[in-house]
Amino acid sequence: MRIVRVHGFGPPEVMKVEESEPPRPASGQVVVDVELAGALFAETIVRSGRYPFPLPYEPGIEVAGRVTAAGPDVDPSLVGRRVVATTAGNTGGYAEQALAEVGNVYEVPSGLPLNRAVPVFQAGAVALSILSAMRVQSGETVLITAAAGRIGSLLVQLATAQGLRVIAAASTAGKLAIAADLGAAVTVDYSASGWVDEVKDATGGRGVDVVLDAIGGDLGEQAGQTAADGAGRIGVYGFASGTWLPLDTLQIVQRGLTVVGPLGITFAKPLADQRADTEQALAAAAAGDLVPRVHATYPLDRAVDAHHDLEQRRNHGAILLTP
Ligand SMILES: NC(=O)c1ccc[n+]([C@@H]2O[C@H](COP(=O)([O-])OP(=O)(O)OC[C@H]3O[C@@H](n4cnc5c(N)ncnc54)[C@H](OP(=O)(O)O)[C@@H]3O)[C@@H](O)[C@H]2O)c1
Repeated sequence: MRIVRVHGFGPPEVMKVEESEPPRPASGQVVVDVELAGALFAETIVRSGRYPFPLPYEPGIEVAGRVTAAGPDVDPSLVGRRVVATTAGNTGGYAEQALAEVGNVYEVPSGLPLNRAVPVFQAGAVALSILSAMRVQSGETVLITAAAGRIGSLLVQLATAQGLRVIAAASTAGKLAIAADLGAAVTVDYSASGWVDEVKDATGGRGVDVVLDAIGGDLGEQAGQTAADGAGRIGVYGFASGTWLPLDTLQIVQRGLTVVGPLGITFAKPLADQRADTEQALAAAAAGDLVPRVHATYPLDRAVDAHHDLEQRRNHGAILLTP
């Protein structure tokens, strides 16, 4: 079978399609015949060598398709089911077949196409869990960065549905139009100077109740400036810029801010609760209440193009691969 493999960290071109033996499921595992795999921004960080990982490795965290084999101790009735799954060891999804631990396999609700299930099952669960960890309340104002991204576009929809007033920030007019379409009340181009004042003006000068930052670096620091003094909560869940949001403790103390790591809260939850988030995201997508955006679907041998799109900030929503 064909699989994408990385022998040395570097630019997208280090990803090569190779032939490999089909995977065999060990105890507690299944084999998924991959119809679609997600290509994630986080995977570009690993591939470029900015996150420690043993070499060689096979990228690919998210897959969708039918279960074709079940390992010992696994319910054999899973074979033939249409599922989404995170891959065993978070690797090997850019392939014709992939292994998954049975606890990370989810049956896709009938009627939900796989190209909606893949971009929503993990990103939707993350988005739901971030909002819950930030204890958002209806009527609050939230600033969402990378608002047209894979997770950001779901956060905009979920926050709007929960009665929050969403201020969406992104880097292009096209991305802002998408965020507005998904429910954002206000959109702000954070590649333009003066965007922090724009956000403040949109809140009558007070600032926002909640900042959700996926970017870090200078943009993250500026996003933090939009939090309301004496009340604002800043949730940090990504560092797409390459550096985390810099924290100035004296400023946090003087301004009366709360800084939260919502993903750490998510991953500390019991596994049953984490599964419930995923099932909720899939059910919302099946009901049409949560609509993931798919920017592009590339064949496996164009995984390089998928990573270029992600690194050059071209993606509106998720990017998928098909073997
Ligand atoms: N399970 C997960 O997938 C997971 C878990 C934990 C954390 N995260 C983190 O959550 C964040 C969002 O993930 P995602 O998959 O939804 O990605 P994404 O938002 O679809 O893509 C990243 C976005 O970040 C923005 N960005 C700002 N500065 C950038 C830079 N220097 N280089 C590249 N992008 C930049 C771009 O949007 P604009 O052009 O609008 O700025 C870009 O489209 C990432 O930091 C990711 O590592 C993901």
